[in-house]
Amino acid sequence: MHNSPLPRRSAFPPDFLFGAATSAYQIEGHKYGGAGRTHWDTFAAEEGRVVRGEDGAIACDHYHRWPEDLDLLAEAGFDLYRFSTSWARIMPEGRRGVSNSAVNKEGIAFYDRLIDGMLERGLKPALTLYHWELPQALADQGGWRNRDIAGRFGDYAELIAAHFGDRIWSAAPINEPWCVGWLSHFDGHHAPGLRDLRATAPAMHHILLAHGTAVQAMRASGMQNLGAVCNFEYALPADDSAAAQKAADVYDAIYNRFFLSGLFKGEYPDLVMQGFQDHMPKGWEDDFDVIQAPIDWLGLNYYTCKRLAPATQPAIATGKGAFVAGDPLWPHYKEMPPKGPLTAMGWEIYPEGLREFLIRTKAEYTDTLPLYVTENGMASDDRITSGAKGQNSVADAQRIDYFAQHMDACREAIAAGVPLKGYIAWSLLDNYEWALGYEKRFGLVHVDFETQVRTPKASWHAFAEALGS
Ligand code: FCB
Repeated sequence: MHNSPLPRRSAFPPDFLFGAATSAYQIEGHKYGGAGRTHWDTFAAEEGRVVRGEDGAIACDHYHRWPEDLDLLAEAGFDLYRFSTSWARIMPEGRRGVSNSAVNKEGIAFYDRLIDGMLERGLKPALTLYHWELPQALADQGGWRNRDIAGRFGDYAELIAAHFGDRIWSAAPINEPWCVGWLSHFDGHHAPGLRDLRATAPAMHHILLAHGTAVQAMRASGMQNLGAVCNFEYALPADDSAAAQKAADVYDAIYNRFFLSGLFKGEYPDLVMQGFQDHMPKGWEDDFDVIQAPIDWLGLNYYTCKRLAPATQPAIATGKGAFVAGDPLWPHYKEMPPKGPLTAMGWEIYPEGLREFLIRTKAEYTDTLPLYVTENGMASDDRITSGAKGQNSVADAQRIDYFAQHMDACREAIAAGVPLKGYIAWSLLDNYEWALGYEKRFGLVHVDFETQVRTPKASWHAFAEALGS
């Protein structure tokens, strides 16, 4: 008898894959193994940027505990593990240099062990090359604002291909371009914490240029199954006025359409260019050949929706964004309060948004290209309870329900003809949730950050049951 409320494996096509995801800085413990300083170390050390000023120095100590963590993935029955390599762990200065120390041998050896450990357990290694921990040395040179980053990132991709390419199942250069670009350079919430449209427009373009450069480098080295991973938030007008619809359209263009348009149409949406045009880097129109380097799949990360209304004051006055010229009200939207039920992040639970994005992405951008849900999950206020026999458990029923609703949305998209090939939960472990420090727990497995003890939550058991069938 099947008790898990998650749809079972047999409810999906036979070749459908299931996985769980993490990222390097969020779990590894950056102080170990000769990794170089990153802009997240710097950002976290700045007053008021991160809850309690926490950083990724120790995180989940995955650097030492990876065998146990890979066992947890394999025991739950997952097919693949979406993980990332840290650029600064592999190249502490972010670039090839004249000295041997430009490449950290301990870092290469760590990922060798980790990838071999996945293969030994039958897990497909699904690699991301950049999940946000930019080497500080490159941040000092302007980071994503500096066009040189594309070449540096291409060098790093070449190194990754040379060392690990033969054992990697899939690779995507950059996790969530919107977060790397807009959230970090316009909203100021993530490193480097800028609020400046003059920084945002070039950063968003250079991210795609770096993506394409890395894809070309990996392809030239013989790697296959290369993709891109973008994040999406469903944009809902706060009411039925035309002005609210316009606000939602602009939000949608910046968040959900900018990177897809660049990747699949070789252009950027007019609604975004209205704000960006005066700040684009020289020669940007000529970069689309690189940006559009062919890819084999697209990953969608999806968590929530937003309700939008017309802006009544400039974003700078609301603590978001800085303007240098032109229309001070651009981008013309403000976020309105979400409607319940909410997660511990205060994010509205809106599974129909995932279904609609899958259908729209196929219809308007990707056609027959395989799609994956590369992140989906929720934070909740999880507590450990001790059972009668002394065994610990975590009853995260709301998370199981969240997963079930979003997995059903995937099945609806498949039924509507979307070539969806896999679903990856965020996250295997509770971890460093960026500006929110260790406060928000997204894991299928609870981590006690004092003792590093791992406790599988009810949601982990629910996956184990659904995937075993
Ligand atoms: C995504 C990030 C991931 C994690 C989840 C909650 O935007 O890719 O690192 O922070 O959100």
